[in-house]
Amino acid sequence: MTASENMGTQASANPVNERVRGKVVLVSGGLGAFGMVTARRFLLEGAHVVLADIAPNSRQDVGEVFAGLPAPLVTKLDVTDPASWLSAIEVTVREFGRLDVLVNNAGVVTQVPQAFDEIEIDEWRRVFAINVEGVMLGTQAALRYMKSNGGGAIVNLGSISAYVGTKDNCTYAISKGAVKIMSKAAALSAARFGYNVRVNTVHPGYVWTQLIAEKSTREHGSAEAAKKLFASMNPSNRLVEPEDVAAAIVYLASDDAKMINGADLVVDGGRLIQ
Ligand SMILES: NC(=O)c1ccc[n+]([C@@H]2O[C@H](COP(=O)([O-])OP(=O)(O)OC[C@H]3O[C@@H](n4cnc5c(N)ncnc54)[C@H](O)[C@@H]3O)[C@@H](O)[C@H]2O)c1
Repeated sequence: MTASENMGTQASANPVNERVRGKVVLVSGGLGAFGMVTARRFLLEGAHVVLADIAPNSRQDVGEVFAGLPAPLVTKLDVTDPASWLSAIEVTVREFGRLDVLVNNAGVVTQVPQAFDEIEIDEWRRVFAINVEGVMLGTQAALRYMKSNGGGAIVNLGSISAYVGTKDNCTYAISKGAVKIMSKAAALSAARFGYNVRVNTVHPGYVWTQLIAEKSTREHGSAEAAKKLFASMNPSNRLVEPEDVAAAIVYLASDDAKMINGADLVVDGGRLIQ
Protein backbone atom coordinates (compact mmCIF):
# COMPACT_ATOMS: atom_id res chain seq x y z
CA MET A 1 0.00 0.00 0.00
CA THR A 2 1.53 3.33 -1.02
CA ALA A 3 1.50 6.49 1.02
CA SER A 4 -0.66 8.22 -1.54
CA GLU A 5 -3.18 5.38 -1.35
CA ASN A 6 -3.22 5.84 2.40
CA MET A 7 -3.74 9.58 1.95
CA GLY A 8 -7.01 8.71 0.16
CA THR A 9 -9.06 11.49 -1.36
CA GLN A 10 -10.97 12.56 1.68
CA ALA A 11 -8.30 14.78 3.21
CA SER A 12 -9.06 17.46 0.66
CA ALA A 13 -12.82 16.93 1.01
CA ASN A 14 -12.77 17.60 4.75
CA PRO A 15 -12.88 21.24 5.78
CA VAL A 16 -9.51 22.10 7.29
CA ASN A 17 -9.42 24.64 10.08
CA GLU A 18 -6.50 25.87 12.12
CA ARG A 19 -7.54 24.43 15.42
CA VAL A 20 -4.07 23.34 16.48
CA ARG A 21 -2.00 26.26 15.17
CA GLY A 22 1.38 26.38 16.92
CA LYS A 23 0.84 23.21 18.96
CA VAL A 24 3.68 20.70 19.14
CA VAL A 25 2.52 17.14 18.54
CA LEU A 26 4.34 13.83 19.05
CA VAL A 27 2.82 10.84 17.22
CA SER A 28 4.04 7.38 18.24
CA GLY A 29 4.06 4.81 15.44
CA GLY A 30 4.21 7.96 13.34
CA LEU A 31 5.46 6.26 10.17
CA GLY A 32 2.48 3.90 10.01
CA ALA A 33 -0.74 4.49 8.10
CA PHE A 34 -2.71 6.47 10.70
CA GLY A 35 0.48 8.14 11.91
CA MET A 36 1.27 9.67 8.52
CA VAL A 37 -2.31 10.70 7.73
CA THR A 38 -2.78 12.14 11.22
CA ALA A 39 0.50 14.04 10.94
CA ARG A 40 -0.65 15.51 7.65
CA ARG A 41 -3.89 16.71 9.18
CA PHE A 42 -2.05 18.27 12.15
CA LEU A 43 0.36 20.01 9.77
CA LEU A 44 -2.51 21.28 7.60
CA GLU A 45 -4.07 22.74 10.74
CA GLY A 46 -0.90 24.58 11.72
CA ALA A 47 0.83 22.24 14.21
CA HIS A 48 4.47 21.14 14.41
CA VAL A 49 4.82 17.36 14.27
CA VAL A 50 7.28 14.74 15.44
CA LEU A 51 6.89 11.28 13.91
CA ALA A 52 8.36 8.81 16.41
CA ASP A 53 8.67 5.20 15.34
CA ILE A 54 10.56 2.01 16.13
CA ALA A 55 11.71 1.97 12.50
CA PRO A 56 12.64 5.61 11.77
CA ASN A 57 14.35 4.70 8.49
CA SER A 58 11.51 2.51 7.21
CA ARG A 59 10.04 5.10 4.81
CA GLN A 60 11.75 6.91 2.00
CA ASP A 61 8.65 8.87 1.02
CA VAL A 62 8.26 11.20 4.01
CA GLY A 63 9.43 14.21 1.98
CA GLU A 64 7.02 13.34 -0.84
CA VAL A 65 4.02 12.76 1.45
CA PHE A 66 4.49 16.08 3.25
CA ALA A 67 5.56 18.13 0.21
CA GLY A 68 4.38 21.72 0.56
CA LEU A 69 3.93 21.42 4.32
CA PRO A 70 6.39 22.19 7.13
CA ALA A 71 8.59 19.09 7.41
CA PRO A 72 7.83 16.84 10.37
CA LEU A 73 10.76 15.68 12.48
CA VAL A 74 11.33 11.91 12.36
CA THR A 75 12.85 10.29 15.43
CA LYS A 76 13.37 6.86 16.91
CA LEU A 77 11.01 5.64 19.63
CA ASP A 78 10.45 2.21 21.10
CA VAL A 79 7.22 2.65 23.06
CA THR A 80 8.09 -0.30 25.32
CA ASP A 81 11.18 1.47 26.68
CA PRO A 82 10.82 4.29 29.26
CA ALA A 83 14.24 5.74 28.35
CA SER A 84 13.21 5.91 24.70
CA TRP A 85 10.14 7.98 25.65
CA LEU A 86 12.32 10.40 27.62
CA SER A 87 14.64 10.80 24.69
CA ALA A 88 11.78 11.30 22.15
CA ILE A 89 10.28 14.02 24.34
CA GLU A 90 13.72 15.62 24.79
CA VAL A 91 14.23 15.67 21.02
CA THR A 92 10.77 17.20 20.54
CA VAL A 93 11.36 19.95 23.10
CA ARG A 94 14.84 20.67 21.73
CA GLU A 95 13.45 21.05 18.19
CA PHE A 96 10.14 22.83 18.80
CA GLY A 97 10.43 24.28 22.32
CA ARG A 98 7.74 22.21 24.06
CA LEU A 99 5.23 19.34 23.81
CA ASP A 100 1.49 20.03 23.74
CA VAL A 101 -0.04 16.84 22.32
CA LEU A 102 0.84 13.15 22.45
CA VAL A 103 -0.91 10.70 20.13
CA ASN A 104 -0.36 7.15 21.44
CA ASN A 105 -0.82 5.56 18.05
CA ALA A 106 1.79 2.75 17.86
CA GLY A 107 0.09 -0.63 17.90
CA VAL A 108 0.33 -4.20 16.63
CA VAL A 109 -2.08 -7.05 15.95
CA THR A 110 -1.81 -10.81 16.22
CA GLN A 111 -1.51 -12.08 12.64
CA VAL A 112 -2.75 -15.61 13.38
CA PRO A 113 -6.34 -15.96 14.64
CA GLN A 114 -6.41 -17.40 18.16
CA ALA A 115 -9.37 -18.82 20.04
CA PHE A 116 -9.22 -17.79 23.69
CA ASP A 117 -7.87 -21.16 24.82
CA GLU A 118 -5.16 -20.98 22.15
CA ILE A 119 -3.71 -17.62 23.20
CA GLU A 120 0.05 -17.97 23.35
CA ILE A 121 1.57 -16.23 26.31
CA ASP A 122 4.59 -14.97 24.33
CA GLU A 123 2.32 -13.39 21.73
CA TRP A 124 0.10 -11.93 24.48
CA ARG A 125 3.20 -10.36 26.09
CA ARG A 126 4.43 -8.99 22.74
CA VAL A 127 1.08 -7.34 21.99
CA PHE A 128 0.59 -6.07 25.53
CA ALA A 129 4.13 -4.65 25.70
CA ILE A 130 3.35 -2.37 22.74
CA ASN A 131 -0.42 -1.79 22.88
CA VAL A 132 -0.80 -1.47 26.66
CA GLU A 133 2.55 -0.85 28.37
CA GLY A 134 3.57 1.39 25.47
CA VAL A 135 0.51 3.59 25.98
CA MET A 136 1.03 3.60 29.75
CA LEU A 137 4.70 4.61 29.45
CA GLY A 138 3.93 7.27 26.85
CA THR A 139 1.10 8.71 28.91
CA GLN A 140 3.31 8.76 32.01
CA ALA A 141 6.18 10.44 30.20
CA ALA A 142 3.88 13.05 28.65
CA LEU A 143 2.09 13.75 31.95
CA ARG A 144 5.42 14.22 33.75
CA TYR A 145 6.44 16.78 31.14
CA MET A 146 3.07 18.48 30.61
CA LYS A 147 2.12 18.91 34.29
CA SER A 148 4.95 21.40 34.78
CA ASN A 149 4.82 22.94 31.31
CA GLY A 150 1.32 24.37 30.95
CA GLY A 151 -0.69 21.18 30.32
CA GLY A 152 -1.69 19.48 27.10
CA ALA A 153 -3.75 16.74 25.51
CA ILE A 154 -3.20 13.02 25.01
CA VAL A 155 -5.13 11.01 22.43
CA ASN A 156 -4.96 7.21 22.55
CA LEU A 157 -5.82 4.76 19.79
CA GLY A 158 -8.33 2.17 20.92
CA SER A 159 -10.50 0.09 18.58
CA ILE A 160 -14.08 -1.07 18.23
CA SER A 161 -12.57 -4.39 19.33
CA ALA A 162 -12.60 -2.91 22.83
CA TYR A 163 -16.42 -2.93 22.82
CA VAL A 164 -17.52 -6.44 21.89
CA GLY A 165 -16.53 -10.04 22.35
CA THR A 166 -14.47 -11.80 19.71
CA LYS A 167 -14.10 -15.33 18.46
CA ASP A 168 -10.39 -15.32 17.64
CA ASN A 169 -8.95 -11.81 17.98
CA CYS A 170 -8.75 -12.00 21.76
CA THR A 171 -5.31 -10.66 22.58
CA TYR A 172 -5.70 -7.53 20.48
CA ALA A 173 -9.26 -6.87 21.66
CA ILE A 174 -8.30 -7.22 25.31
CA SER A 175 -5.30 -4.92 24.83
CA LYS A 176 -7.56 -2.24 23.35
CA GLY A 177 -10.04 -2.72 26.20
CA ALA A 178 -7.16 -1.96 28.55
CA VAL A 179 -6.38 1.23 26.61
CA LYS A 180 -10.02 2.29 26.91
CA ILE A 181 -10.04 2.16 30.71
CA MET A 182 -6.43 3.35 31.00
CA SER A 183 -7.39 6.60 29.25
CA LYS A 184 -10.13 7.23 31.81
CA ALA A 185 -7.83 6.46 34.74
CA ALA A 186 -5.16 8.80 33.38
CA ALA A 187 -7.72 11.50 32.59
CA LEU A 188 -9.20 11.47 36.09
CA SER A 189 -5.85 11.23 37.83
CA ALA A 190 -4.44 14.15 35.81
CA ALA A 191 -7.55 16.27 36.40
CA ARG A 192 -7.68 15.60 40.15
CA PHE A 193 -3.98 16.38 40.55
CA GLY A 194 -4.47 19.64 38.63
CA TYR A 195 -2.21 18.86 35.64
CA ASN A 196 -4.41 20.54 32.99
CA VAL A 197 -4.00 17.54 30.70
CA ARG A 198 -6.92 15.84 28.95
CA VAL A 199 -6.78 12.17 27.91
CA ASN A 200 -9.23 10.78 25.37
CA THR A 201 -9.51 7.74 23.10
CA VAL A 202 -10.44 7.36 19.45
CA HIS A 203 -11.84 3.93 18.56
CA PRO A 204 -11.65 3.24 14.81
CA GLY A 205 -13.60 0.53 13.05
CA TYR A 206 -11.78 -1.55 10.40
CA VAL A 207 -9.65 0.73 8.25
CA TRP A 208 -7.73 -0.70 5.31
CA THR A 209 -4.11 -0.24 6.40
CA GLN A 210 -1.04 -2.45 6.52
CA LEU A 211 -1.96 -3.36 10.09
CA ILE A 212 -4.92 -5.49 9.01
CA ALA A 213 -4.42 -5.91 5.24
CA GLU A 214 -2.27 -9.03 5.31
CA LYS A 215 -4.30 -10.86 7.92
CA SER A 216 -7.67 -9.91 6.40
CA THR A 217 -6.64 -10.78 2.85
CA ARG A 218 -5.57 -14.21 4.07
CA GLU A 219 -8.79 -14.73 6.03
CA HIS A 220 -11.21 -13.54 3.33
CA GLY A 221 -9.51 -14.76 0.16
CA SER A 222 -8.62 -11.41 -1.40
CA ALA A 223 -8.19 -7.76 -0.46
CA GLU A 224 -11.30 -6.84 -2.43
CA ALA A 225 -13.43 -9.45 -0.64
CA ALA A 226 -12.19 -8.28 2.75
CA LYS A 227 -12.82 -4.60 1.97
CA LYS A 228 -16.32 -5.40 0.69
CA LEU A 229 -17.07 -7.36 3.85
CA PHE A 230 -15.78 -4.60 6.14
CA ALA A 231 -17.82 -1.97 4.29
CA SER A 232 -20.94 -4.15 4.48
CA MET A 233 -20.55 -4.36 8.26
CA ASN A 234 -21.19 -0.59 8.45
CA PRO A 235 -24.76 0.63 7.94
CA SER A 236 -23.39 3.19 5.47
CA ASN A 237 -21.80 0.33 3.46
CA ARG A 238 -18.64 2.45 3.28
CA LEU A 239 -15.17 1.79 4.63
CA VAL A 240 -13.77 4.10 7.29
CA GLU A 241 -10.74 5.96 5.86
CA PRO A 242 -7.57 6.90 7.78
CA GLU A 243 -8.55 10.55 7.22
CA ASP A 244 -11.74 10.00 9.25
CA VAL A 245 -9.64 8.77 12.16
CA ALA A 246 -7.15 11.63 11.79
CA ALA A 247 -9.94 14.22 11.89
CA ALA A 248 -11.22 12.78 15.18
CA ILE A 249 -7.72 12.73 16.69
CA VAL A 250 -7.03 16.35 15.75
CA TYR A 251 -10.41 17.43 17.13
CA LEU A 252 -9.73 15.78 20.52
CA ALA A 253 -6.25 17.33 20.61
CA SER A 254 -7.61 20.80 19.86
CA ASP A 255 -9.01 23.39 22.25
CA ASP A 256 -12.43 22.84 20.64
CA ALA A 257 -12.48 19.73 22.82
CA LYS A 258 -11.34 21.53 25.99
CA MET A 259 -14.27 20.17 28.01
CA ILE A 260 -13.93 16.64 26.65
CA ASN A 261 -11.95 14.39 28.95
CA GLY A 262 -11.83 10.62 29.44
CA ALA A 263 -14.15 10.22 26.46
CA ASP A 264 -14.42 7.50 23.83
CA LEU A 265 -14.94 8.70 20.27
CA VAL A 266 -15.95 5.79 18.04
CA VAL A 267 -15.14 6.28 14.33
CA ASP A 268 -16.74 3.22 12.73
CA GLY A 269 -19.37 4.40 10.25
CA GLY A 270 -22.06 3.35 12.73
CA ARG A 271 -21.05 -0.29 12.92
CA LEU A 272 -21.49 -0.56 16.70
CA ILE A 273 -24.96 0.96 16.81
CA GLN A 274 -26.58 -1.98 15.04
N1 LIG B 1 -6.10 -0.10 10.86
C1 LIG B 1 -7.19 -0.39 11.55
O1 LIG B 1 -8.17 -0.91 11.04
C2 LIG B 1 -7.25 -0.02 13.02
C3 LIG B 1 -8.50 -0.14 13.66
C4 LIG B 1 -8.58 0.20 15.01
C5 LIG B 1 -7.47 0.65 15.69
N2 LIG B 1 -6.27 0.75 15.04
C6 LIG B 1 -5.12 1.21 15.83
O2 LIG B 1 -4.54 2.37 15.23
C7 LIG B 1 -3.14 2.40 15.47
C8 LIG B 1 -2.38 2.58 14.17
O3 LIG B 1 -2.77 1.59 13.26
P1 LIG B 1 -2.27 1.57 11.73
O4 LIG B 1 -3.33 0.90 10.97
O5 LIG B 1 -1.78 2.90 11.33
O6 LIG B 1 -1.02 0.55 11.87
P2 LIG B 1 0.40 0.53 11.12
O7 LIG B 1 0.91 -0.86 11.25
O8 LIG B 1 0.30 1.12 9.76
O9 LIG B 1 1.28 1.50 12.02
C9 LIG B 1 1.74 1.15 13.30
C10 LIG B 1 3.09 1.80 13.50
O10 LIG B 1 3.54 1.48 14.84
C11 LIG B 1 4.94 1.28 14.77
N3 LIG B 1 5.40 0.50 15.91
C12 LIG B 1 5.25 -0.83 16.15
N4 LIG B 1 5.86 -1.17 17.30
C13 LIG B 1 6.39 -0.04 17.82
C14 LIG B 1 7.16 0.25 18.97
N5 LIG B 1 7.50 -0.71 19.85
N6 LIG B 1 7.53 1.53 19.19
C15 LIG B 1 7.21 2.51 18.32
N7 LIG B 1 6.52 2.30 17.18
C16 LIG B 1 6.11 1.03 16.93
C17 LIG B 1 5.17 0.55 13.44
O11 LIG B 1 6.52 0.64 13.01
C18 LIG B 1 4.19 1.29 12.54
O12 LIG B 1 4.81 2.38 11.87
C19 LIG B 1 -2.81 1.10 16.21
O13 LIG B 1 -2.76 1.36 17.60
C20 LIG B 1 -3.98 0.21 15.87
O14 LIG B 1 -4.19 -0.80 16.83
C21 LIG B 1 -6.15 0.44 13.71
